[in-house]
Amino acid sequence: MSTRTAPSPVVVKPPVPARADRLLALPPFLFNQIDDKKRAAIAAGKDVINLGVGDPDKPTPSFIIDALDKAARVPANHQYPDCYGTKAFLAAAARFMQARFGVKADPSRHLLALIGSKDGIAHLPMGLLNPGDESIVFAPAYPVYRSATILAGATANVIQTRGEDGWLPRFDDPALAQTARRAGCKLMWMNYPGNPTGAAASRETFDRAVQFAKEHRLVLASDLAYSEIYFDRPESVPSMWQSEGADLDTFPGIEFHSLSKTFNMTGWRIAFAVGHPDVIGALRQVKDNVDSGVFNAIQDAGVVALDRFNDPAIGAMREEYRVRRDLVVRGLRAIGCEVSEPRAGIFVWARCPIDPATGKPMDSWKFVGKLIDEAAVVTVPGAGFAESAASWVRVSLTRETGRISEAMDRLKRLT
Ligand SMILES: Cc1ncc(COP(=O)(O)O)c(C=O)c1O
Repeated sequence: MSTRTAPSPVVVKPPVPARADRLLALPPFLFNQIDDKKRAAIAAGKDVINLGVGDPDKPTPSFIIDALDKAARVPANHQYPDCYGTKAFLAAAARFMQARFGVKADPSRHLLALIGSKDGIAHLPMGLLNPGDESIVFAPAYPVYRSATILAGATANVIQTRGEDGWLPRFDDPALAQTARRAGCKLMWMNYPGNPTGAAASRETFDRAVQFAKEHRLVLASDLAYSEIYFDRPESVPSMWQSEGADLDTFPGIEFHSLSKTFNMTGWRIAFAVGHPDVIGALRQVKDNVDSGVFNAIQDAGVVALDRFNDPAIGAMREEYRVRRDLVVRGLRAIGCEVSEPRAGIFVWARCPIDPATGKPMDSWKFVGKLIDEAAVVTVPGAGFAESAASWVRVSLTRETGRISEAMDRLKRLT
């Protein structure tokens, strides 16, 4: 009698998933929804003025381009970069921190070069949070704080800030303290001057944030991408590291600085983080495994940029933003928006006009849709950033002054 082995059971595997679950947990990318509307207006032959994206329209100052030109011709720069940052770049970042904020940082322990601050912001949670841990994000906010937390398998507690508080956190809010007290809650994000609100935080606000983070054993991550676009005094935009009790060697914090907006270098991808050695170390370790740093020639050009942060070209750019800000504030007020003049940053943040149908401020998607459909002007709805901003709109100042003026004229003609 012949014996036959039974065929092994067929294992039915589900089809290869198109995406990991963590991607499904991400909120929809805001700009995709606006782009559809913008494309439709362009397809209809309209002259669209895009005040949606915050990407400087002016070129990088020529002294920085010249430095890149020179550095790009050095063969040693064509090899893999110094991935934590060249000595020269980190030393320039330290000089900037000292000259601008009076903060003394050790280049070898407190500083790290980044491929744009988004690189550091997106990778930090992976270095600090375990799956199931939590972070605190004050909304409305740059979306990456939240999505990076989700990508790390952790949960972002989105705390709504409000217009009546100047879009600043209420550190005496018991609900905030309750969240912060949870054992898994380890990281708190701040962004002042803020995207989208343009709100700036005083030294006192940072003092309170540092104190709150200490009390609740949180890492405080501050995003200072807009530090150099201020409209009054530089002191009105402080660094977290100037705060009472924020010592680089003892306080577990990190601050992100970017060359993108200060020097019109968004495409170059260069920034740095300044923080406690352990926090910098965690971020370095993540980055060791995902990238190889910033092209050395760009770092060389970054040295020239940081050393000339007070150059008249940068002052002139601030003045141009001020002119644009005033145009937009005036234009939006003329159509019934409530606007407080931003003291810093590249955005004007306004409450939508009253909707005659409801007697309340218009829903931001409706208002933004009206501006595209009837004036071919693109803006960003606050609802895309936060519940508390459902009737607010963000207008970017990064288009030519003449185009901004034209956009405001079009708004005036709206019925
Ligand atoms: C608040 C904020 N942080 C960080 C970034 C990222 O800037 P970058 O990666 O160019 O340094 C942006 C970009 O728009 C931003 O608005």
